[in-house]
This record gives sequence, C-alpha cells and structure tokens, in this order.
Amino acid sequence: MTTYHIPVLLHESIDALRVRKNGVYLDATLGGGGHSNAILALGGKVIGIDRDEDAIKECERRLAGYGDRCKIIRANFKNADEILCNENVQLDGAIMDLGISSHQIDCAERGMSYRLDAPLDMRMDKRQLLTAEMVVNEYTEDELERVLFEYGEERFARKIARNIVKSRARSPIRTTLELASIVTASVPQSVKLPQRRTFQAIRIEVNNELRGLDKAIKDIFGHLVSGARLCVITFHSLEDRIVKQTFNLLAADCICDKSLPVCVCGHKAEGKLLKKVKPSAKELKENSRSSSATLRVIEKL
Ligand SMILES: C[S@@+](CC[C@H](N)C(=O)[O-])C[C@H]1O[C@@H](n2cnc3c(N)ncnc32)[C@H](O)[C@@H]1O
Repeated sequence: MTTYHIPVLLHESIDALRVRKNGVYLDATLGGGGHSNAILALGGKVIGIDRDEDAIKECERRLAGYGDRCKIIRANFKNADEILCNENVQLDGAIMDLGISSHQIDCAERGMSYRLDAPLDMRMDKRQLLTAEMVVNEYTEDELERVLFEYGEERFARKIARNIVKSRARSPIRTTLELASIVTASVPQSVKLPQRRTFQAIRIEVNNELRGLDKAIKDIFGHLVSGARLCVITFHSLEDRIVKQTFNLLAADCICDKSLPVCVCGHKAEGKLLKKVKPSAKELKENSRSSSATLRVIEKL
C-alpha cells in the first residue's frame, strides 16, 4: 500500500505548536492526517478541515482511534471563521500545510501530474464545477497568459497561451499529456521541467488557492488564545509571499503608509514572528518533496 502523504516539517511544526494535553488545535489542511496524528498523540484535541473527500476518508480511518478528541470537517479553510464560531472554541494553536498532498499528485485520475496521463481535472474538491479542462479550453488567450504568468511565474506564458489556443481550435485539449506536449513544444529545450509552472498555475486557478488566503490566515489567527501559535507551511514563493506579508501586518505596530511622517493608524501588533524554518538535510534526503517547503510561525500576543 502506498503512503497517502509524508508530512513535511513535522517535528519543527509540532515543536512550534507546543501541544498541551486537551488543548484545542485547528488543522486547516488535514491531507493524510500526519500533523493531526502528531497533535493527537501528544494529547491535544483536533478540529481538522480538508476540502478533499479522499483526505476526509483517509483521516476518518487513520484517526478513528482518537474518538471525540478529533473532529473532522469537509470544508474550505476560507470558511474557518464560521466553522470555529459554530464550534464555539478558542484555539491553542493552528496549522496550515498548504498546497497538495502526495496522494493528490500521484493519483493519476486527479489530473494534477504532468507525468501521468489523465483527464484534465485538478480539482481538490470534486463538488466544484471549474476543472482544468474548462480553464484550458474556455479561457481567452489573454486570460490564459495571465494565469500562467501570475500563478506560474512562467516567462513563456504568452507563447504557451497562444499555442494552447491554436491547438484547441483544431480539437479540444482533454488530457494532461496533451497539455504537457503543447507546453514542451512552446518553450526552449534548455528549460528544465518545462511543464511544472503551467501545471502549477492552472491548478492554482482551478482551486482558487491564493485569493482569500490572507483573510483565512487572519481569521484563524483571530481565534487563537494569547500565547498560541499559527504555523503555516508553504511550497512556492507566491504562497510564501502572502503568508509573509500577512504575518508582517499582524506583527506590525503601525500599518500607516510609510510616506507619512507620523503614525495615524494607532495599530498595535497582535502577533510576534518566529524565525522561519526550512527542512533539515536529513528531511531533504528522505523526502525530496520537502525541498521547496518553508515554515513560518506567528505567536498571538
Ligand atoms: C500538503 S497537504 C496536507 C498534508 C497533511 N499536513 C499531512 O500531514 O498529511 C494539503 C491538503 O490541504 C488541502 N487543502 C488545500 N487547500 C485547502 C482549502 N482551501 N481548504 C481546505 N483544504 C485545503 C488539500 O486538499 C490537501 O489535502
């Protein structure tokens, strides 16, 4: 049986959370339940959220032994505020391990891998309508270029978008490998992993991964008790920039326009930043998927 997901920066994030017996922790991205399992094993209680049905089923199975110390909810963490208000809890800590699980990449029919032939799907939540096939076949050339440039930081966005539009005029693009070959033909041969940026960009667009991430972080932070910590693990610079900027705002004593000579906002810092953490050499050796991970931690004052 293959592993659902190997948790990244597990020891570092669990250490940062300083789990207390019977403390309540939010895991906003359950995945295979690796981080939740560690919190529960230390005696904490978990409210676990994921929008992917497979993750929910996996965690219901894996974490069943913890009984009512673990509550699993299928939802988007952008609704965390409403969920936590309904649960009527304050949090002793929270973790968001962003991006996708190994299961989501390795399961061919999810359509997230450019190496595995499958229909262009890429949805984390199968209940939503927008799929990668719709993005690739229905977006205008300009929209495609914007998605590839903004979410993939793809230098060859224009050329790829143009070739997608040309190709779909002949016949619709239905599969991951069809898309991958269009991308490969659009960029110089010297580019390493030429499809990576395009697939990342379309996945981010399909799952609306970046819009509202700042608000979700602020909402979750708002439910922490004083002294509690929020850990966020990111896997690419776009996510990490949003986390860094949001944390900086929460930790700032003034959010005035810096061109003003004096502070007029009266804003006071609500959080304290901890040093960012990267995977150890040991983890990098054991799990290559950790290579782009960054952990940021903020403590509620
Ligand atoms: C990297 S995996 C988490 C792995 C987990 N920490 C573990 O140790 O197994 C990310 C998970 O977050 C979920 N996810 C991503 N964005 C989400 C969102 N906006 N709301 C809820 N779940 C989300 C994905 O479906 C995926 O299962």
